[in-house]
Amino acid sequence: MRLRAIFQPDQREFVTMALTEHLARLKEIEAQAQADFTNAPGTKELYDQKVRYFGKQGSFSELMRVMGKLGPEDKPTFGKEVNETKQRLEALYNQQESQLKSQEMATRLAQEALDLSLPGPERSQGSRHPISLVINEVISILSRIGYSVRLGPQIEGDWFNFEALNIPPDHPSRDLQDTFYVDDHHVLRTHTSPVQIHTLLNEIPPLRVLAPGSVFRCDSDVSHSPNFHQIEGMLVDRKVSMADLKGTLSYFVKELFGSSLKVRFRPSFFPFTEPSAEFDCSCPICQGKGCRMCKHSGWVEIGGCGLINPKVLMQAGLDPLEWQGLAFGFGIERMAIIKYGVQDIRLFNENDLRFLRQFE
Ligand code: DAH
Repeated sequence: MRLRAIFQPDQREFVTMALTEHLARLKEIEAQAQADFTNAPGTKELYDQKVRYFGKQGSFSELMRVMGKLGPEDKPTFGKEVNETKQRLEALYNQQESQLKSQEMATRLAQEALDLSLPGPERSQGSRHPISLVINEVISILSRIGYSVRLGPQIEGDWFNFEALNIPPDHPSRDLQDTFYVDDHHVLRTHTSPVQIHTLLNEIPPLRVLAPGSVFRCDSDVSHSPNFHQIEGMLVDRKVSMADLKGTLSYFVKELFGSSLKVRFRPSFFPFTEPSAEFDCSCPICQGKGCRMCKHSGWVEIGGCGLINPKVLMQAGLDPLEWQGLAFGFGIERMAIIKYGVQDIRLFNENDLRFLRQFE
């Protein structure tokens, strides 16, 4: 370049001189940038340096402006130098960057070291509610002799809950104090027996059905909860008798509580069965010797049962001379209390984990 200056010792020399200066300045910038890139302690600082040299306000933008002012014969030389310098610096930058990145990753890994052999946080596992456990067990026992499940609505027409079951309007169970009325003609079902009616109206006998579910009565103390559970059983067939009822229920409680139990029927009254009975079994806690659970009687009540009242069958369009049926309705809480020795019925609804965990 200096040679060219000698050959053209006119005004051009000034520009040429300027070019050499610019080139020298370029060298200085490169040297400085090399030092800055190499000395940057981390990727962030390195990036700041990159902005300093290559950013909008950076040294290279300034060099571009210089180039704009150069004469056409110097532009290619200077341009080439600038480009090559830039490429070298970019290569250096990239090399530094990947080196710093891996250094930083190594420090982070060392600081955040995980002990993968540590056991994870313990996850508590859910379990079935005792009421569900009993419902499932009752279903499983009775499904072995041909019963299958039907579900009915919890908000029930009063015809289904009462009339169709032969419960007249003046019957005490209709009392406003016992029944939750939703409106003039709908109640929260007070028992699972209305599922008998739905089934009789919708299906053709012979039938063996079980209807578990929530029922509601306006009642609350140690042994009564406004929302409790029942399971209803119904069999409709030809030539059904009390012997079938007794055989079915003996099989059932022996499977549920143990084969050494005794069973008994006590005459009772339900509008939808005729005859009706209360069904008891010898106390599974004391084997009939007498304890707190059986109030020292040796017997515990399981629920009501009977042969379906012909009036109920006729309501559903069945001829009682051709078809007969047996039915039973048991309180699930009652069975759970006996099975698990629970003292207070309210525990079933309190969701106290100390209570529920005992059934895991
Ligand atoms: N529904 C009766 C109640 O809630 C229980 C009952 C008794 C159901 C006798 C029956 C039955 O199916 O035959 O008190």
